[in-house]
Amino acid sequence: MDLNLKEIDSILKKYGYKKNALISILQDIQEKYNWLPQAALRIVSEKLCVPLIDVYSVATFYKAFKLIQPGKHNITVCMGTACHVRGAPTILDKLQERLGIPAGQTTPDYHVTLETVNCLGCCALAPVVVVDGKYSAQTTIQKAEKILSQLKPKEKRTKQKIHSAKHRRKK
Ligand code: FES
Repeated sequence: MDLNLKEIDSILKKYGYKKNALISILQDIQEKYNWLPQAALRIVSEKLCVPLIDVYSVATFYKAFKLIQPGKHNITVCMGTACHVRGAPTILDKLQERLGIPAGQTTPDYHVTLETVNCLGCCALAPVVVVDGKYSAQTTIQKAEKILSQLKPKEKRTKQKIHSAKHRRKK
């Protein structure tokens, strides 16, 4: 991934290269890149004169910080009690199977990250799946399939359409 050194430096400058601004600096970096790339943490460590291990201990202490590059799209399945009893595990199984990754991971092409959460606070809509910030209520397997097909990279969708059109003509 490309890291813009000027961007990182302007964040550090904004906080006057102060060690006690470490959390705010990491927050700003994450806001910019959507995660904390290792190279960025090294720069922070050097410029603030804080050992890298200390930068990491802050970054790993707060759950909000991401140390693994997320996918372009995010799918979060609620596994809270209400969603669980209304079928969330089946939906999660389907998504895991179709994406070929377990929850908590990103597809090798960095296209989708699959996550779980314990209650989103809207249990009446259970089972809930959030896709790139949009809530899908009363999610069914069919809805989950639709979500996946909408997230497919464009060229794959086009190929699929051509393939289906050819298939229809053969019939
Ligand atoms: S359990 Fe899923 S929204 Fe509450």
